Amino acid sequence: MENNRVEVHPILGEFNTEKKLVKFRYNDTELEGYEGEPIASALLAAGIKIHRYSLKEKKARGIFCAIGRCTDCVMVVDGNINVRTCVTPLKEGMVVQTQYGLSAKEA
Ligand code: FES
Repeated sequence: MENNRVEVHPILGEFNTEKKLVKFRYNDTELEGYEGEPIASALLAAGIKIHRYSLKEKKARGIFCAIGRCTDCVMVVDGNINVRTCVTPLKEGMVVQTQYGLSAKEA
């Protein structure tokens, strides 16, 4: 698989120096990523590009700015909506869900 992982981020800095793999849940799937890398980077490395669906038009959204400014990458993380996954470091055991409007459930 092509490596889409973000190695250096303009806000969070450099990642993967320790290369500690951690498990996390994405919807109904268990994935692995490097602790401390942006959640969005771990998802991108797994080929996942859709993070949310817009509230009104239900259009797919994903990484756009990658620096925490646009909100296109927001997802439900550990039950919290609107988490900017491009600037949120990955931790062991996180539960990351696609966001539909303002929830993790499709309307
Ligand atoms: S991609 Fe713009 S805030 Fe995350």
